[in-house]
Amino acid sequence: IGGSPFEVTVHTSPGPTCGTFSHLWLSLIGSEGETPPIRVTDGNSHLLPGSVCPVRVQASSPLGRLILVRLRLEVQTRFPNLDWHCSRVEVWRVSKGQGSDSETQVFLCDRWLRPADGDVELRSGKLCLLEEEIEEKLKQQRLRQLQHQQQLIRWRIFVGGAPQCVDVNSLSELGPNLLYTQKSPATNLYYLNGFTTRVESWKSFSELEMIFTYSAQQNDIARFVKAHWMEDWYFGYQCLNGSNPLMLRETRHLPPNLSVTSDMLRPFLPEGCSLENELQKGNIYLLDYEVLDGVPANVINEKQTYLSAPLCLLHLNQQGQLLPIAIQLQQKPGPQNPVFLPSDSGYDWLLAKMWVHSADFQCHQLISHYLRTHMMAELCCVATLRQLPDAHPLHQLLLPHVKTSLKINVGARASLLASKGLFDQAVGSGLETLPVLLSRASAKISYRTLCVPEDLSDRGLDKLPQSFYAQDALRIWDAVHSFVTSWVDLYYHGDDAVQRDPELHCWLTDINTHGFSNGFPQRFHTRAEVAKFVTALIYSCSALHAAVNFSQLDFAFWVPNCPVAMLRPPPQAKCAVTEDDIMSFLPDVNTTCRVLMALNGLSQPAINFVPLCHYKEAIFRDDAHRRLLEEVQAQLRAISDAIAERNSQLELPYPYLSPERIENSVAI
Ligand SMILES: *[C@@H]1O[C@H](CO)[C@@H](O)[C@H](O)[C@H]1NC(C)=O
Ligand SMILES: *[C@@H]1O[C@H](CO)[C@@H](O)[C@H](O)[C@H]1NC(C)=O
Ligand SMILES: *[C@@H]1O[C@H](CO)[C@@H](O)[C@H](O)[C@H]1NC(C)=O
Ligand SMILES: *[C@@H]1O[C@H](CO)[C@@H](O)[C@H](O)[C@H]1NC(C)=O
Ligand SMILES: [Fe+2]
Repeated sequence: IGGSPFEVTVHTSPGPTCGTFSHLWLSLIGSEGETPPIRVTDGNSHLLPGSVCPVRVQASSPLGRLILVRLRLEVQTRFPNLDWHCSRVEVWRVSKGQGSDSETQVFLCDRWLRPADGDVELRSGKLCLLEEEIEEKLKQQRLRQLQHQQQLIRWRIFVGGAPQCVDVNSLSELGPNLLYTQKSPATNLYYLNGFTTRVESWKSFSELEMIFTYSAQQNDIARFVKAHWMEDWYFGYQCLNGSNPLMLRETRHLPPNLSVTSDMLRPFLPEGCSLENELQKGNIYLLDYEVLDGVPANVINEKQTYLSAPLCLLHLNQQGQLLPIAIQLQQKPGPQNPVFLPSDSGYDWLLAKMWVHSADFQCHQLISHYLRTHMMAELCCVATLRQLPDAHPLHQLLLPHVKTSLKINVGARASLLASKGLFDQAVGSGLETLPVLLSRASAKISYRTLCVPEDLSDRGLDKLPQSFYAQDALRIWDAVHSFVTSWVDLYYHGDDAVQRDPELHCWLTDINTHGFSNGFPQRFHTRAEVAKFVTALIYSCSALHAAVNFSQLDFAFWVPNCPVAMLRPPPQAKCAVTEDDIMSFLPDVNTTCRVLMALNGLSQPAINFVPLCHYKEAIFRDDAHRRLLEEVQAQLRAISDAIAERNSQLELPYPYLSPERIENSVAI
């Protein structure tokens, strides 16, 4: 007895390159049987961009409930093998006699398919957890998909002790769904270009000013940096409102290795205040670059360069300024490791602050930027692809935030971070530094530091109206957190559903096994724990990246404010430097220009970037999802407006965390 016929339409996505010359075979899979493959492309039916190819499928025996559509592409001889972007397949069961009560089932695809993929199965219906999968065949399909993905996407150690990365040797191995093209705005490198062979120190500040005038004059923040970089208040400002707001923390007691006494610091505190008192009141802050202690420094242009591991104490005064009051350049106290003070001769104090900024640059690039956003995104991306099937609600929520990281990181490891790359040739942290620093920093990063409210309160930044990073970060965290919470609640109907989700726990285990070790949750017990964890991941890939990435050029363009390498060792005594000496610490002309050119490239958002919590994927157009999106997008717009309003009143705006400028994922 034959089953009823099906009218099937195959929809190709509309983009100009979505079509393919290849043939398409299709079969329908029901709970009770399946149809043999039938060729969709025939006669006048081609997989052209935006096309709808119809095909009638007749089952020779009843299929039962229709649950999967299987597709396979076949290269047509003498035609190029092109990738095909399939939007969806729609199936309409023709009921005997009465067409009206039959309904259309949609099998979403929304991705690139290739002949090499072999059989690809599309499912219909909603996202769901494994335990809600009623069809045995769909449970098996989830499992098959994961097995397939785990063969394709494997872990690789990049640096021992740091989060692992994807195991590919070239970008093409990632396949079309994990690649993307970025349209970058043109940057003008014309005036930086001519210095590529000038291997010598800058001769004077006026030379630096010349370069600056030609290349950075339109950048208001960079101009402000150049005008105020020597001033103590602006040093403190940068710890809170600059490109690396992750180092500063409040301290209630003096670090044991910083050899200062209250008497030494009394002149830099307000009349009648003691250090003990200010410590107790929470007015003393610390920058501690211990992670750099003893790491090997790079050799650049055949010259040894130097790193230091400074400790810097700052005081929050009654005017709300954060002022540095003591700097010790190395961790271990001793006679050759003096504590520099604001009362020291001008150049001693200035140079000490430059050493701190040079240490900060290394930590900013490798820890705050590369490790905490790029590597974090890749860790999450690889685990998600391996452990959460497409039908899992967290797969769909997370992937848009993490999938661009593979391409950008594979590229960075092959260029920026490779032999003859930027770090090797121009930065104080070279190829020997990188593994040491990344593994040490990974061991220190705790789960709490990734959760904005905990991180800010642990560091005493939440109470500071002067910290625009903290204020903006908290608002964005809250908006993303409430969105993620609603998403989690939509699919997990109780905490027990969380505990019973084996896919979720395999995912978490994969992240823990290949990621960080410090205080990360080992199991999820509640929906709230899941929502917080996912929020921390999304925040790291979007807002945090925007805060540490887009700001870098602004603060680095005036080279003395951000020495990327130091060519002489840290001073071991006071009164040892003159104005001319300052220049001799800075990197050579050609390395400086090389770094500035690279930062230029990194500092502009792509023209086609996707803003935070906006999604192009079809799955987000589902009604329930759309409602959640409308809510979070409205909240983010309100935050943008409030930030714009605030910034319009400021001489020095803090624009980096304005949601409309935040990219949804790490893509540069
Ligand atoms: C600087 O110039 C020297 C000599 O031409 C060259 O070996 C070196 O690679 C250059 N450095 C950079 C970062 O371009
Ligand atoms: C951070 O920036 C804002 C706005 O310019 C400013 O009011 C605040 O004082 C800054 N913080 C510090 C510590 O300077
Ligand atoms: C602090 O100083 C002691 C010696 O005074 C030294 O053994 C220790 O390693 C130092 N700590 C750090 C983090 O350098
Ligand atoms: C990172 O910053 C650079 C320059 O500051 C910019 O060109 C790049 O687009 C930024 N990347 C992202 C993803 O925002
Ligand atoms: Fe980046």
